[in-house]
Amino acid sequence: MIKAVSLSRSFGAKAAVKDLSFEIKKGEVFALLGPNGAGKTTTIRMLTGLIAPTSGTCTIEGVDVTRNPMQVHRNVGVQPEVPGHYDTLTAQRNLEFYGKLFGVKQPQLGERMRDLLQSFDLWDRRSDTVQTYSKGMKQKLAIIRALLHDPEYVFLDEPMSGLDPVASKTVKDFILDLKAKGKTVVLSTHNLEDADRLSDRVAVIQGGLIALDTPDNLRTNLFKRTIVFHLKAADDAVVAKLRALPFVRSAERSENKLVLEVENPEEENPQIVDLLVKAGYKVQFVGEVRHSLEEVYLKLVKPSKGAPQ
Ligand SMILES: Nc1ncnc2c1ncn2[C@@H]1O[C@H](COP(=O)(O)OP(=O)(O)OP(=O)(O)O)[C@@H](O)[C@H]1O
Ligand SMILES: [Mg+2]
Repeated sequence: MIKAVSLSRSFGAKAAVKDLSFEIKKGEVFALLGPNGAGKTTTIRMLTGLIAPTSGTCTIEGVDVTRNPMQVHRNVGVQPEVPGHYDTLTAQRNLEFYGKLFGVKQPQLGERMRDLLQSFDLWDRRSDTVQTYSKGMKQKLAIIRALLHDPEYVFLDEPMSGLDPVASKTVKDFILDLKAKGKTVVLSTHNLEDADRLSDRVAVIQGGLIALDTPDNLRTNLFKRTIVFHLKAADDAVVAKLRALPFVRSAERSENKLVLEVENPEEENPQIVDLLVKAGYKVQFVGEVRHSLEEVYLKLVKPSKGAPQ
């Protein structure tokens, strides 16, 4: 388990992270969301012992990451926001260096390097110096580096940024594979669809913590349930009939579609269908509108000063 207690970090007079407390369970995929400058990278750097908090603590499996960084690093893999490779060395030499640093012995190191380089389509370029790599290739190498010693806790700072669709899919599949193996993954991302699909829970931060829950709970807490009824032919009279029902919060019509906000659709949809059928309307489809994590995020995060409302 990762436990952050009142984690705060300032740079000079500027507070980058304010009083963050949360627990991340073993085996969880946990996403940090928030606008540029919200403190995601600073939080990941504190959680992994790369920088010390100004106040507060972080422990991984009970070990204080600030006091015992070396003990923690054996168990932790980090893909930083900026890759930071040795550019004049080949990809292979870079990985050998980090592998040894993390205590991975041969022949396991060679096998692991080959598997990961092949998965990320870099095997044929392993003998090229990193300075000849494209941005996405450097990013992929940083992810490989984080996974090299098969750590229990994997921290990925915007792992899909700059990757082509195939590489991005590879990384997402890797994250799900790590979860299936019981590993814990903490990632930051601006891609809310990815966060929704990959994460067990998301934390929205903007200096401090704005929200922390499963994507589904955030949706349910922020939005009423919205149901769409497709009729063969709808009119305004049917909208008036539905608005008169005590449990219908709102009803709107768009052509032959009726969009209703209701309290408890499992109980109320059958009553609505019954009413529609008895009134002679033909119900073709009934579906629930699933609010996206983007809608949730936009409702939670305040626009920065000067941004259009
Ligand atoms: N080394 C540093 N020196 C001074 N200020 C810093 C430093 N690192 C971060 N900050 C400041 O801390 C705040 C949080 O930055 P951070 O990089 O953690 O944000 P972020 O959420 O990762 O943003 P992004 O989405 O752009 O990556 C920002 O105001 C930033 O300017
Ligand atoms: Mg960042």
